[in-house]
Amino acid sequence: MQERFVIGGLAGRKTLKGELPVRGAKNAILKALPASVLFEDTVVLTNVPDIEDAERMGELVRASGATVERSGSTITITPPPKWRSELEHSIAERIRASIVLTGPMLARTGSVHFPYPGGCVLGERPIDLFLQGFTAMGATVKEDAEGVFNIHAHGGVLLGAEIFFPFISVTATETLMLAAVLAKGETILENAAMEPEIPALAAFLNACGAHIEGAGTSTIRIQGTAGKPLRAEGRPMAMPPDRIEAGSFVILAALAGEDVTITDCEPKHIDALLTLLSRAGVPLEIGERSIRVRSGAIPNERYKSVVVRTHEYPGFPTDLQSPMTIFLTQTTGEVTVLETVFDGRLRYAEDLIRMGADITIMNPHRILIRGPRKLSRKELEGPDLRAGLAYILAASVAVGTSIVNNAYVIDRGYEKIEERLRAIGLSIRRELTR
Ligand code: UD1
Repeated sequence: MQERFVIGGLAGRKTLKGELPVRGAKNAILKALPASVLFEDTVVLTNVPDIEDAERMGELVRASGATVERSGSTITITPPPKWRSELEHSIAERIRASIVLTGPMLARTGSVHFPYPGGCVLGERPIDLFLQGFTAMGATVKEDAEGVFNIHAHGGVLLGAEIFFPFISVTATETLMLAAVLAKGETILENAAMEPEIPALAAFLNACGAHIEGAGTSTIRIQGTAGKPLRAEGRPMAMPPDRIEAGSFVILAALAGEDVTITDCEPKHIDALLTLLSRAGVPLEIGERSIRVRSGAIPNERYKSVVVRTHEYPGFPTDLQSPMTIFLTQTTGEVTVLETVFDGRLRYAEDLIRMGADITIMNPHRILIRGPRKLSRKELEGPDLRAGLAYILAASVAVGTSIVNNAYVIDRGYEKIEERLRAIGLSIRRELTR
């Protein structure tokens, strides 16, 4: 049995009203769970979103020997006497972020064994940066005939190294930062990713005995503990708010909201989006931890189109590219969206064309959008979790009732999305399909 969402389109009317709280970040919990392997005592994680990816990562850490318990939005991880360094294949093959566990596992146990990680299909997603990083830290990397990677640290301990990333990768930065925490000597990561989830994780690790400097900048220095595990001693780590969810909600509010306030968020984490939206004419009231969008008085036609080019943080996030494209189908003008981070992340545009959007696919990285155009109802299937949510946005502005199949893909990253959007007045329900 599969599940799908049925969404009543507002046909361009702006009626949504109320408060929309943002949950903890998917991309924070997916690193905090693996980081628990670095600890010798119990780790408590709070503000954890109730999403499928967090479940899967919890299962993966549990399969490695830990006790992982969830109570509401808190997850408690108690380490086993001995970690199992072979990652559970069936789970690792399902989520891309399983690769993050390889760093702390290698650092803690001296070896790690894992299959090629699975996850969202976003063009090529190689793991060369991870493997090269481990090699630089003195490990031996071998791939066996079944495609399983076997990595061993000489003498069971990783060595500090100077690692320059030829291009920026979020998970490679985090994985090698985690590995370096227990290494012997200093590791310097250059051209590192600067996403806000990275300094959040580093701050917690530092409070527990790690020595990380520069997280949140492009150079991160880590003095390893030479194998001494970290101790949380009851200190919890709260997941920062999910900036991609916050940004998607702001876009929805601009498109279909009369008066919506997005709460529990960190507006400065989405400066790139907010700058473009306000340039487009979206009336934003930005508070400390909230963003109010009172767009009811402004008809769609009044928003101006803006050019979008995705970039690593603090640039425009690739994860907000598809929701932003929905916005641009409703604004006046002709603009391009350029995707620079992933290959194959514009394929969803074909579905929007079927809905009536005027989009020309120039090449796999660039689309040209002319707006505004009315969208009409369709049955859709999200190719990845971000595009899945973008389809819900498209369905919300469309004329008629649309269906977004494959609810699981959206559940991977967004907690009970239908209940939360219903609370601000969207007509959306989940139903079983045969
Ligand atoms: C993370 C986020 C994802 C976001 C992406 C870009 C998590 C769990 N996921 O994904 O939501 O869309 O950052 O902001 O945090 N690459 C290589 N070799 C490698 C690793 C990456 O060539 O070894 C390439 C990728 O193919 C891609 C680019 O680097 O073109 C950036 O990918 P990366 O930052 O690694 O994305 P993820 O960390 O997988």
